[in-house]
Amino acid sequence: MPPPPPPPPLLSVTLLFVILRLLAVDLTVAHTCSPTRTNITSCPPFTSPPSFPFSSSPGCGHPSFQILCSSNRSFISINNFSFVLLRHDPNSSTLVLSPQSYVSDPTHRSCPSASLPDRAIDLSGSPFRFSDAPCARLSVLRQCNISSLPNCSRCPWDCKLLKSPVQLLKGCSSKHRSSEQGCQQDVLDYLHTFLNLGIQVQWDESNDTYFSRCKDCQSEDGVCGFNTSDTRKPFRCFSSRSRISSHSPH
Ligand SMILES: *[C@@H]1O[C@H](CO)[C@@H](O)[C@H](O)[C@H]1NC(C)=O
Ligand SMILES: *[C@@H]1O[C@H](CO)[C@@H](O)[C@H](O)[C@H]1NC(C)=O
Ligand SMILES: *[C@@H]1O[C@H](CO)[C@@H](O)[C@H](O)[C@H]1NC(C)=O
Ligand SMILES: *[C@@H]1O[C@H](CO)[C@@H](O)[C@H](O)[C@H]1NC(C)=O
Ligand SMILES: *[C@@H]1O[C@H](CO)[C@@H](O)[C@H](O)[C@H]1NC(C)=O
Ligand SMILES: *[C@@H]1O[C@H](CO)[C@@H](O)[C@H](O)[C@H]1NC(C)=O
Ligand SMILES: *[C@@H]1O[C@H](CO)[C@@H](O)[C@H](O)[C@H]1NC(C)=O
Ligand SMILES: *[C@@H]1O[C@H](CO)[C@@H](O)[C@H](O)[C@H]1NC(C)=O
Repeated sequence: MPPPPPPPPLLSVTLLFVILRLLAVDLTVAHTCSPTRTNITSCPPFTSPPSFPFSSSPGCGHPSFQILCSSNRSFISINNFSFVLLRHDPNSSTLVLSPQSYVSDPTHRSCPSASLPDRAIDLSGSPFRFSDAPCARLSVLRQCNISSLPNCSRCPWDCKLLKSPVQLLKGCSSKHRSSEQGCQQDVLDYLHTFLNLGIQVQWDESNDTYFSRCKDCQSEDGVCGFNTSDTRKPFRCFSSRSRISSHSPH
């Protein structure tokens, strides 16, 4: 009996398309999310195109890890706070962030804390949380000379910070350690330097469906992204193979 004839090329391409469709690999937007297509001429600290969960291309990567590359620096926005990304070790789920621009109301601008954010830095609702080190550092920090408080009815945020500097980082618990080591002559100035040097934050992948779905997507040779036209930003898995997508019937 002769062997069956090979299937015509069109049929095999269609079959492949159907298979990939079943694997939920999205062929309609081909490999625009592939990191190699990202222009990263100046996006420190990334030395190679940011890979998942990071991305500098809209609709690619994880929605909470969108990087804006500008002026030879990379920025990330969390709850409307803009941060400069100072350091990232690709092997760990930690970042060092320095807050950049704050919406500052006019009364705050005339207070001694004008160089600080006018509210607590809040990561709630994001995959990020403050690492233990910055929380511990600020929880022992205190002003040595408490006689130099500003006018607390005019600058209430300053007085809060002077009494309990850890309130700058929302979600850090204040541990009342009776220690002299955290005593600073000028707590507000110390906080300013502290923020410029950067705060370490970390993220948890275990409770985040983007990470689990991306693992599945990558195992099918897909590239992870999300639907930007949907406010819920649902996960999308893009095909990384341009060869296949050029045969896509769309
Ligand atoms: C990358 O960006 C630089 C500066 O913006 C530009 O000159 C260059 O042409 C871009 N390269 C590609 C491949 O888009
Ligand atoms: C970007 O910053 C790096 C280090 O921060 C520096 O070495 C490099 O010269 C800068 N490049 C430009 C174009 O400013
Ligand atoms: C962020 O800012 C935008 C525009 O200013 C506003 O509509 C939005 O509610 C803000 N989001 C948060 C979480 O504050
Ligand atoms: C990251 O991990 C890889 C392999 O696990 C290792 O070769 C590399 O040196 C690590 N990089 C850093 C910065 O620790
Ligand atoms: C505390 O502050 C007051 C007023 O600013 C100043 O007179 C005093 O010398 C300060 N004491 C110390 C120990 O710095
Ligand atoms: C503190 O500020 C309030 C409001 O600006 C003002 O009415 C009050 O006199 C100030 N108190 C002192 C001690 O300067
Ligand atoms: C994961 O999410 C669930 C529901 O939002 C929550 O109850 C649980 O504590 C979370 N687990 C971790 C480790 O964050
Ligand atoms: C993206 O979201 C929009 C709005 O919900 C929807 O109309 C569109 O079909 C979605 N695209 C994909 C590829 O899922």
